Amino acid sequence: MKLAFKFTLLTALAATPAVAQEEAPKEHPGKAVYATCTACHQATGLGLPGVFPPLAESEWVNGPAENLIRIQLRGLMGKITVKGKEYNSVMPPNAAMTDQQIADVLTYVRSNFGNKAEAVTPAMVTALRGEVGKPMLTAADLVDPNKKVEPAPAEEPKKEEPTPAAEPKKEE
Ligand code: HEC
Repeated sequence: MKLAFKFTLLTALAATPAVAQEEAPKEHPGKAVYATCTACHQATGLGLPGVFPPLAESEWVNGPAENLIRIQLRGLMGKITVKGKEYNSVMPPNAAMTDQQIADVLTYVRSNFGNKAEAVTPAMVTALRGEVGKPMLTAADLVDPNKKVEPAPAEEPKKEEPTPAAEPKKEE
């Protein structure tokens, strides 16, 4: 009896934190929105060779978030190179989605399929809403994700003459 009680107590103590930890992680809300993309980019994010470009480990997906938001708002057409392969097709815009949905789906894509890029916030989408209705984008309208941003050559710090006080110091 005594032993059994001890045992129960021990299991209870041991089990409590484990249960809390094993709780299934909440599914990312972007996963549901991603259903909009699977017809073309596939559930795997691998696309269809020669037809639909991959999102998995795409330099575009892992590049500037601004590109991805603009693609959702305006669509994309014409030649684009993704992971060394050229595509030349059309992606219709998803401007009817809310800022939250666009942020969610892009965040989901940027953190799945082997991608590792920062989250996209609804505020970032809101800031680009003005793009809606503009002509469909081509890759040339986007920021080249392969372009290494060279740090600006360090300028010699200019020695400025101390500017004579323009205003006489106010006495306080
Ligand atoms: C009707 C098919 C279709 C749907 C639906 C679609 N796309 Fe695309 N997507 C394309 C095509 C085609 C291109 C390449 C366009 C081109 O050739 O200029 C593309 C390009 C892209 C690119 C840039 C290239 C790359 O592969 O990284 C991203 C990012 C992207 N799509 C994300 C999405 C997301 C996210 C969704 C869902 C919200 C989506 N697409 C829905 C067809 C589609």
